[in-house]
Amino acid sequence: MKEDMSSIAKDLTSRVKLNDGVTMPLFGLGMYLSGSGQGGQAEHAVIHAVSTGYKLLDTAEFYGNEADVGRGIKNGGVKREDLFVVTKLWENGYDRCKKIFNKSLKMLDIGYVDLYLIHSPSTGKCVETYKAMLELKQEGLVRSVGVSNFGVHHLERLREAGLPTPSVNQIELHPWQQKKDIVEYCRQNGITVMGYSPLTKGQKLSDKSVLEIAKRHNKSPAQILIRWSVEHGFITIPKSSDPGRIEQNTDVFSWSLDQDALKILNGMPDWSCSWNPCITPWRG
Ligand SMILES: NC(=O)c1ccc[n+]([C@@H]2O[C@H](COP(=O)([O-])OP(=O)(O)OC[C@H]3O[C@@H](n4cnc5c(N)ncnc54)[C@H](OP(=O)(O)O)[C@@H]3O)[C@@H](O)[C@H]2O)c1
Repeated sequence: MKEDMSSIAKDLTSRVKLNDGVTMPLFGLGMYLSGSGQGGQAEHAVIHAVSTGYKLLDTAEFYGNEADVGRGIKNGGVKREDLFVVTKLWENGYDRCKKIFNKSLKMLDIGYVDLYLIHSPSTGKCVETYKAMLELKQEGLVRSVGVSNFGVHHLERLREAGLPTPSVNQIELHPWQQKKDIVEYCRQNGITVMGYSPLTKGQKLSDKSVLEIAKRHNKSPAQILIRWSVEHGFITIPKSSDPGRIEQNTDVFSWSLDQDALKILNGMPDWSCSWNPCITPWRG
């Protein structure tokens, strides 16, 4: 496995070293709204992705498909230890974390979780939840712990509580949601940045500028947006349940965006395709 300290993925096996020494793939498959159920879409998406070479899978308690992800891993013909599985806790609390983690691990049935994230700071109790996650790490059930949707003020409150720095912060990132203050804070404090909704949930794939850039580069609009994330050094996890698109989304390593394209994409106005818990007040 290659480890890329610059965080610019060169292929599906490129990894970045987290602040706890664990190495994490820079590219993976998002699982939100991938479906669920025996023999269903989510399981097939995982099987197709891992046989294509994807190493990173991003699920969550909230997505309701941890069991499907687990089955996909079992039936995908790839060794568990060659994959990196992320899941997240929806509603915070010390006891809830311990209880829900056990449920998540049972559903996934993969022995351990590579990265466990607080899904959002919006329900509060982040300090006690984070302490519970650190205990799971000590017990060897989780390899790394991190957060999602944390703004700078949330990260500062965790630091003030004397807790170890999270390894990862997963936030919405694409040209219309660059969250430069959070990215800068994370980079200065050794927190690896993981972007979600890199394709804007499909909502900007028909944007006039994106279409023009795609035509000029002879790539699809989706590939243009994923490449933008790759070039910014973000871990990225485009979601698709379609075998063709799962494969298409991996053709983002052997070419780069020209300077005009970067200038246009970097200059997009602020707009979000998702919820934005990064701005919620700190609730402890
Ligand atoms: N922590 C959080 O709060 C949070 C929030 C949102 C998302 N996430 C994570 O980030 C992942 C990705 O974000 P997302 O699911 O919100 O959206 P996304 O990856 O930005 O977009 C997914 C949409 O794009 C379509 N798509 C995929 N590849 C395509 C292609 N090559 N051409 C055209 N359309 C394409 C998909 O449809 P098909 O499936 O039909 O291809 C789907 O409708 C999630 O799945 C989840 O794991 C985390």
